[in-house]
Amino acid sequence: MSERNTTAAAAGGLAEPDLVAAMRNLPGCREYLDLPVEDAVLHRVLDSARFAPSGGNRQGWRVAVVRDADTKRTLRDLYVAPWMRYVNEHYGTDETMSEDRKRRVADATRMAESMDEVPVHLVVWLDMSVVAVTDSEAGRPSVVAGGSVFPFIQNVQLAARAEGLGTRITTLLSEEEAAVRALVSAPQDWALAALVLVGWPVRLPKKLSREPVETFTWSERFDGPRFTA
Ligand SMILES: Cc1cc2nc3c(=O)[nH]c(=O)nc-3n(C[C@H](O)[C@H](O)[C@H](O)COP(=O)(O)O)c2cc1C
Repeated sequence: MSERNTTAAAAGGLAEPDLVAAMRNLPGCREYLDLPVEDAVLHRVLDSARFAPSGGNRQGWRVAVVRDADTKRTLRDLYVAPWMRYVNEHYGTDETMSEDRKRRVADATRMAESMDEVPVHLVVWLDMSVVAVTDSEAGRPSVVAGGSVFPFIQNVQLAARAEGLGTRITTLLSEEEAAVRALVSAPQDWALAALVLVGWPVRLPKKLSREPVETFTWSERFDGPRFTA
């Protein structure tokens, strides 16, 4: 055990290498086994996720745990059209896409079309009546509001990973917020944050594709040199 790990363990028993490994290996799951996810397991996941930070510690996340087949089918139907629109607008045609992009889009489309078969849909909302939005006057879409719910969602995904579960997040259902609100009886002043699919994975990719630190970090100012180790 390294010196840092000894210190971390003494401070609270955190297994630092496991924590870092989890951060570096949390892929969106594209294929799920046809196996139920027990309430007790889901409850454990949510029980860990609730320690996420939120502005003013308001904890405005609200979650519908959906297992009902009809509700999941409706969510799938609401999702597929915005997904196909998104693909057409952002990824272009089969002729212009790289092979890797084509494979990823095909995987995501297959998942969209069968997402009602994933055992659990967590429909995550943010109660806007409690959330602190400090950039509401900035003249652009708020980025701060989401900061009070997406750390919670990341925690859900990490805690699910610790149970061996796979997850995938989608925010495209926001285009159909009114329909989703009616479907799960969400109050008017809640905003739809995301749908998180949860199930036992068939397999998870071993290596995630992410840009290195130097591509997105500068030293001191954005007109200066890149930040390097
Ligand atoms: C805010 C947010 C919204 C996302 N929305 C979608 C979505 O609508 N559909 C989807 O298939 N994946 C969605 N994803 C998953 C991303 O596509 C995925 O994290 C990214 O492509 C990296 O893939 P990987 O984690 O499998 O490496 C979303 C992720 C985030 C963080």
